[in-house]
Amino acid sequence: MIMTLFFIVFFLIKFLQKENTKLAKTRHKKLPPGRRGWPLIGDSFNWYNAVASSHPPTFVEQQVKRFGKIFSCSLFGKWAVVSADPSFNRFVMQNEGKLFKSSYPKSFRDLVGKNGVITVQGEQQRKLHGIASNMMRLEKLKFHFLEDIQRVMTRTLCSFEDDQLILLQDVCRKVAINLMVNQLLGITSESEINEMAHLFSDFVDGCLSVPINLPGCPYHTAMKAREKIIKKINRTIKMYREEGSLEVSNGVLARLLEEESLPDEAVADFIINLLFAGNETTAKTMLFAVYFLTQCPTALKQLLDEQESLKSCSNGEEMLTWQDYKAMSFTQCVIDESLRLGGIAIWLMREAIEDVKYQDYVIPKGCFVVPFLSAVHLDENVYNGALNFNPWRWMDPQNEEKRNWRNSPFYAPFGGGARFCPGAELARLQIALFLRSFVTTYRWTQTKEDRMSFFPSARLVNGFQIRLTRRHMQDEG
Ligand code: HEM
Repeated sequence: MIMTLFFIVFFLIKFLQKENTKLAKTRHKKLPPGRRGWPLIGDSFNWYNAVASSHPPTFVEQQVKRFGKIFSCSLFGKWAVVSADPSFNRFVMQNEGKLFKSSYPKSFRDLVGKNGVITVQGEQQRKLHGIASNMMRLEKLKFHFLEDIQRVMTRTLCSFEDDQLILLQDVCRKVAINLMVNQLLGITSESEINEMAHLFSDFVDGCLSVPINLPGCPYHTAMKAREKIIKKINRTIKMYREEGSLEVSNGVLARLLEEESLPDEAVADFIINLLFAGNETTAKTMLFAVYFLTQCPTALKQLLDEQESLKSCSNGEEMLTWQDYKAMSFTQCVIDESLRLGGIAIWLMREAIEDVKYQDYVIPKGCFVVPFLSAVHLDENVYNGALNFNPWRWMDPQNEEKRNWRNSPFYAPFGGGARFCPGAELARLQIALFLRSFVTTYRWTQTKEDRMSFFPSARLVNGFQIRLTRRHMQDEG
């Protein structure tokens, strides 16, 4: 115990000395204004308290009042420049790989794989990002995903009993994992889906846990799950190499083998990266959308009316077409508003590759740079009634440009620049079809108070407990 304390104190002193030297070097350059906070821990606790609350930009808003929209602070033992400035956020995203790079700890890289699009940089990132975007572009969604997603919804969502009590957070997670197993691996057999869903779930839990690689810890379980997922992928690759084609050809994996020429070890990491990036984000947006709709019956009614005006699939027999999907304009407003108000990617994490000049400031090489997206999404000066769920705002022609989630500095739920989310269109399709399935099949009442939190990941703290009753078309009107 004494030895452990000794080592901790020793390393703290060493660390502080190193940080002080670095700070002294940067002081003569003009870092954005800010405060240092407590020695070593800086503002880490204030940061943590804010993101664990229901309003993650709290700390950022306080600093913005004192220092302006671009400020500096000390986070997790490192100097960071944080921004609530839409133009600077955009500048950072647009300069990915040139002035800034995304930055992750080694434990995370080991888990998601060092050959995957999220962790690689430069030329390799551009290549993998291009492949991911190609796999999930609109035409591919129409052809490969539209019907499969509806089948997964029917299987995972439509069999709850009247009066059943559920935690919607768990259900959304199950839906998202089943979607991923189906779409990434193209698996359709029930037993194989269940086996893979279990592994995927262990893997995703570990990505959001403390990185302790010891038996019993979620990170360790996730590493084991990773090994098994890779084994399964490698078996599929072997089968493909021996037989020249695959029985199940709808999944991303099969298309990756047919259309691209990635080395085998990069194929598994590619799939695992998509799994990590696409699972929790989609599950939690589905959940938050229902949470917001529960508090806004007028919006729920309008969404239901829109869905019922399309042909019926509540019995799971009739498939929606691409044209039907395109006609869901109010549903799309609900999705945009849910992403604005409950955006899962509340901030992005970057590191300056070199000393970067921006306006009068110099951001020193190695400094963290944090575009805080939700500070813009929840800024009263950008959105009237910014804290209210108001999907109709997106119907206002004045907001048309702001709404362009590919390029708008004011609305960037899917990031931007070279790391813009390649799964954005797929996620929107999944969420729309989930909302359709859920609202046309059930009514619900919330049975326990709940609130959002964004630490360790976006969630509702009580899992959103609701009681379901089946909605029968003939009850309506
Ligand atoms: C509502 C759901 C989603 C949200 C809010 C979301 C958000 C984001 C954001 C903000 C980024 C940029 C991260 C950064 O710049 O550091 C990103 C990247 C990424 N997303 Fe998504 N995403 C969603 C769904 C998906 C889905 C369904 C997939 C695929 C199955 C996916 C795959 C990826 C990948 C592979 C990247 C990394 C791209 C790169 O680094 O080049 N995402 N996502």
